[in-house]
Amino acid sequence: MTVFEGIESIQALVVGASRGIGFGMVQQLLSDPRVGQLYATYRTRTAALTDLAAQHPDRLTLMPMDITQEAQIADGIAQIRQQSQGLHLVLYCVGFLHEGTIQPEKSLQQVQADHLLRYFQVNSIGAVLLAKHLPPLLKHSERSVLASISAKIGSIGDNQLGGWYGYRASKAALNMLMRTVAIEYSRKCPKTLVVMLHPGTTDTRLSQPFQRNVPPEKLFPVARTASQLLHVIETLQPEDSGQFLSWDGSRLPW
Ligand SMILES: NC(=O)c1ccc[n+]([C@@H]2O[C@H](COP(=O)([O-])OP(=O)(O)OC[C@H]3O[C@@H](n4cnc5c(N)ncnc54)[C@H](OP(=O)(O)O)[C@@H]3O)[C@@H](O)[C@H]2O)c1
Repeated sequence: MTVFEGIESIQALVVGASRGIGFGMVQQLLSDPRVGQLYATYRTRTAALTDLAAQHPDRLTLMPMDITQEAQIADGIAQIRQQSQGLHLVLYCVGFLHEGTIQPEKSLQQVQADHLLRYFQVNSIGAVLLAKHLPPLLKHSERSVLASISAKIGSIGDNQLGGWYGYRASKAALNMLMRTVAIEYSRKCPKTLVVMLHPGTTDTRLSQPFQRNVPPEKLFPVARTASQLLHVIETLQPEDSGQFLSWDGSRLPW
């Protein structure tokens, strides 16, 4: 049995859909006839997302959402509540590794408090604030999934290389926050599975400056990542809630 079996019209929300893996998820979900309504959020509205909305005016709704502004999260959820009874799939695809003058730290000398705070604000805190506002849309009788895109580099047990302090720590924090959400949701919205997913190295703006040493077979096109992660989600079992899973469905060490 797959997670969405028996659900006639899947209602989905992709947060961070302007580009990269989030945009790939939107494309893939729109190609699935089971998906009835898809809400997609952007911070920067891209032409590609606007084009997609024009092609699917009845199924795709775009909403602005800077994840560092809790009021924008609340507004987005309120808008969905006006249009929908509930959600079956929520994907948190927001994240950054480099942004403006912030680059991943190669050594302790490059660690800066304001950069660390920015990593946590976007990569960790945004997801838990979203989880705070979602329950009214998840307290229905059908099954649902809240999946956050994490990163294997956030595994504390797997850290053999060092470096990238802020990004690593923010993904480890994301995993802890969302595992804690999974426990609270098991009481509040018991039909919702909460998972953290490692997408594998994917050809997006985020990985672009660091792709040189990645063998071509280990650099996934966005479409491949999106379909692999959606397959992992489809085949989730109740005991997977609160787990940190890789793109092939295997469990990763914390
Ligand atoms: N690519 C990889 O190899 C890889 C590997 C492991 C994990 N990941 C994770 O996968 C997720 C998606 O990354 P990606 O590779 O698709 O990168 P990407 O192409 O750079 O996309 C990042 C997305 O995050 C959004 N975002 C950033 N800051 C935001 C904010 N404050 N509020 C709202 N949205 C914001 C961006 O929106 P804007 O367009 O407005 O900036 C964009 O949609 C991230 O969590 C990343 O850590 C990626």
